[in-house]
Amino acid sequence: MKLYRLEPQEDKDKDAGLAPVLQEMERPEPGPDEVLIKVQAASLNYRDLLMRKGQSGSGGGGSIIPLSDGAGVVEAVGKDVSRFKEGDRVAGCFFCGWDDGPFDMKYHKAALGGSLDGMLAEYVTLPEVGVVEAPPHLSAEEAACLPCAGLTAWTALFERAQLKPGETVLALGTGGVSIFALQFAVAAAAKVIITSSKDEKLHRARELGADYGINYRTHPEWDREVWTQTEKRGVEHILEVGGPGTFPRSLNSIAAGGNLALIGVLTGKGAPDSSLFPLVTRCVNLHGIYVGHRAAFSRMNAFLEEHEIHPVIDRTFEFEDAPAAYEYLESGQHFGKVVIRVG
Ligand SMILES: NC(=O)c1ccc[n+]([C@@H]2O[C@H](COP(=O)([O-])OP(=O)(O)OC[C@H]3O[C@@H](n4cnc5c(N)ncnc54)[C@H](OP(=O)(O)O)[C@@H]3O)[C@@H](O)[C@H]2O)c1
Repeated sequence: MKLYRLEPQEDKDKDAGLAPVLQEMERPEPGPDEVLIKVQAASLNYRDLLMRKGQSGSGGGGSIIPLSDGAGVVEAVGKDVSRFKEGDRVAGCFFCGWDDGPFDMKYHKAALGGSLDGMLAEYVTLPEVGVVEAPPHLSAEEAACLPCAGLTAWTALFERAQLKPGETVLALGTGGVSIFALQFAVAAAAKVIITSSKDEKLHRARELGADYGINYRTHPEWDREVWTQTEKRGVEHILEVGGPGTFPRSLNSIAAGGNLALIGVLTGKGAPDSSLFPLVTRCVNLHGIYVGHRAAFSRMNAFLEEHEIHPVIDRTFEFEDAPAAYEYLESGQHFGKVVIRVG
């Protein structure tokens, strides 16, 4: 079978320390508690760019099969497997073994495409605790968008917070996590304010149901607009994917008693240059989000099915063009998800 592994680049001066290299190996056999999945599609996340640079927290040492996110069909199951059978349509879980309940650091060592081999392969074996049924209304390409970006947005809005109709969600940028947040919020009858560097992306977000869009390049003080749009109340939910470069303005945008989900590092991993006092005086609920567990994944899938939500796929690349898919994601042209067709 064919697969990619992240390998050191020959040109050591290049910024990207590792590169996805196409390889061949024997098809794996499932162990007693494992399922063998014929992967049909995989999707990229910003994390995969960090992993390629050797900069992510969960592994990234190279020679791993990359990508946390993939979906396909069960080809065979081990003798102790009870949840799945041959022919089931499934997706892998980001954390292999975080079934439910609170996070434990041991799961950090079981992240696909990081500390463990990931999904950019024609076949993978996963323990059945690391697999979920794919929503029946989704294609494999669509299901492959869910494990990281989809579940992160879901966890922030519905597991750690309880988004209610009429509340306002602020999504930063139009990447994978933010567009899932937009879709979930619209389905939950919440309002959405979204930012982007490009007016045409804001237009697309409005078509998906966003109530208000702010170009953060032409309006660098976007928090003032959020304040105006919410009649100086602020928003009840923020998916903070930006990190230190956006955190101070997110803090200015949060409503009293609001939920600030710390998710991303798009502007770096350093500390924000901002007083943290508003967190106290506004009684803000600060949530550190790390994707989510399998039980939440199943609840998200039920919600996707109930509301007939289809993940927004910007572009799909063929398996042999996987390196180009990385470059495309890195260019920032995308709106929503970038997918690689595998099978
Ligand atoms: N904690 C977790 O569990 C978790 C899970 C998933 C992702 N993440 C993190 O969340 C972040 C987003 O991930 P992703 O996969 O959704 O990324 P992505 O699909 O690559 O999206 C990146 C988008 O973010 C926007 N952006 C970039 N800089 C921005 C800024 N200064 N202000 C506002 N928006 C900005 C851009 O949108 P426009 O082109 O519209 O400007 C860009 O296209 C990453 O840092 C990732 O590591 C964390």
